[in-house]
Amino acid sequence: MKDVLHIGIVGLGAAGRAFLPAIAAHPGWQLVAFADPAVQVRENAHSELGVSAYASLEDLLAHPGLDAVYIATPTNLHPAHVALACAAKKHVLVEKPMATTVAEASQMVDAADAAGVVLLVGHSHSYDMPIKAMRELIAGGTLGRVRMVNTWCFTDWVYRPRRPDELDTALGGGVTNRQGSHQFDILRLLCGGMAKSVRANTFDWDPARRAIGAHVAHLDFIDGAAATAVYNGYGNFSSMDLCFDVSEWGYMQPPASRPVTRRPAVGATAEDELRAKQLRAKTAIPGAAPYQPFFGLTLVSCERGEIRQSPNGLFVGSSEGQREIVLPSDQSPRDLVMAEFHDAIAGRAPALHDGRWGRANLEVCEGAIASSAQGEAIALRYQVPA
Ligand SMILES: NC(=O)c1ccc[n+]([C@@H]2O[C@H](COP(=O)([O-])OP(=O)(O)OC[C@H]3O[C@@H](n4cnc5c(N)ncnc54)[C@H](O)[C@@H]3O)[C@@H](O)[C@H]2O)c1
Repeated sequence: MKDVLHIGIVGLGAAGRAFLPAIAAHPGWQLVAFADPAVQVRENAHSELGVSAYASLEDLLAHPGLDAVYIATPTNLHPAHVALACAAKKHVLVEKPMATTVAEASQMVDAADAAGVVLLVGHSHSYDMPIKAMRELIAGGTLGRVRMVNTWCFTDWVYRPRRPDELDTALGGGVTNRQGSHQFDILRLLCGGMAKSVRANTFDWDPARRAIGAHVAHLDFIDGAAATAVYNGYGNFSSMDLCFDVSEWGYMQPPASRPVTRRPAVGATAEDELRAKQLRAKTAIPGAAPYQPFFGLTLVSCERGEIRQSPNGLFVGSSEGQREIVLPSDQSPRDLVMAEFHDAIAGRAPALHDGRWGRANLEVCEGAIASSAQGEAIALRYQVPA
């Protein structure tokens, strides 16, 4: 294998841009090209990044010496883009949720297997250092078995500038697909991966902004553990109020310094929102944070102790009182994604967040939405152990 793998990004929006520092920071990766059909995005990024710029993924895949692609296009395009990348025998990192249906995810898994390439799904907040450390603490066994994990996240997701597909469940939009994919990944990682069933209610309660904007989901695991995920994207409360004022990306944001939720202006067109989204893309996901990231509050109940995030790591409560474990803050979640991707390609360690893991997360998203529609629990068939 080459010492330095050459990677291209397809889709240079909010997610795509957020990976630039992590790619630059890893000695085993070099960004050599990107593709984006939006002329303005392409021209600006070309002069900023100084790498080859293409209008389509097909052209990017023909870039000489390319080893891997990071697919950060709108979710409904992921299946076709992963198929093209696998056919060109490139290793693939694809954003979450990996697709809009489990059936598509299965085709993506099969395509990567047939091509003999690594398929990784990320970033997700299960890469956050405190979540990783919770998992290691659980695996250490001193606190006993995990019995419950509860995660709460309240944001203004619904009202941020959006493309129409981001609000359309069938195209992978709405908070259960887009944000549930983070939460279910966290819950599965902490509870061992093997969820048996999901029962959920999803909500779409603003007639001026139709989308699944909130949910409550209950997951049962095969070893008797249970977990809940609550998400509310309607912007009237922030889970930073439960999380020491620390933001999703690890910045201290007391209420007075938080950006005000701005609902799209009455009469704003899809083009207006797209422009606003493109403007926001550069700063939407900041890197190099001083505190640990908080995707809301996650509380793990083990037989002999409770674990939750602290601004600098974890609080662990037990019969001996509460102690804090301070965690390193020199690696962002996306640094850990690029390390996992490189290790998997180099054969140093198999990927945890591979296509099958991503499909299992998507199965919970799909199951939660179906459960709400049908009013009953949905059995899960594609789960894999952590
Ligand atoms: N992991 C995270 O924290 C995170 C955060 C935001 C978004 N996402 C995921 O990233 C994906 C993209 O979301 P986003 O918010 O960055 O969207 P975005 O609109 O900001 O960016 C998408 C980019 O893809 C480009 N694009 C559209 N069609 C294309 C095509 N056919 N070929 C190449 N490029 C194309 C667009 O021009 C745009 O620049 C989604 O799947 C979303 O779920 C993940």
